Amino acid sequence: MRDAARMLGHWHRIDGEVLHGDKRGRDLGFPTANMALDRLHRPAFGIYAVLVDVLTGPNKGSYKGVASLGVRPTFGVNNPNLESYIFDFSGSLYGEHLSVALVDYLRPELKFTDLDALVAQMGRDSEQARAILADH
Ligand SMILES: Cc1cc2nc3c(=O)[nH]c(=O)nc-3n(C[C@H](O)[C@H](O)[C@H](O)COP(=O)(O)O)c2cc1C
Repeated sequence: MRDAARMLGHWHRIDGEVLHGDKRGRDLGFPTANMALDRLHRPAFGIYAVLVDVLTGPNKGSYKGVASLGVRPTFGVNNPNLESYIFDFSGSLYGEHLSVALVDYLRPELKFTDLDALVAQMGRDSEQARAILADH
């Protein structure tokens, strides 16, 4: 991603509207803003450190976060999407327009048999993304 950004002169971004997901994220303690990937050339599935620009609505602004891009193999067969967990944010983003910059690839998506293990891994992903994004 960093090589791509250097060559492009800007981050690789995915733009779109926040859709209603399965609402599982809030139960897991990691609520996510979900976006479709239809008709886009999809980057490698996996977990990314992201910079999120909220372009519309009362929460307009720039945020840091961590996102999952892919099919969520833990939960069976799903349409590929982009799910961003935004740090230190509490509010609704449904229907708002987001631009998500993929800054760094952290790891591939994994199929967890134990939800506690997924939640623990999401915590580690968040710490890693926070460290990567500290100077952004
Ligand atoms: C940081 C992060 C890491 C994730 N890693 C995985 C993963 O390795 N495997 C997986 O199946 N889903 C992963 N997910 C996706 C979650 O399963 C998904 O966000 C959750 O089920 C909520 O989905 P919903 O918003 O559609 O309800 C990850 C999500 C985040 C935010």
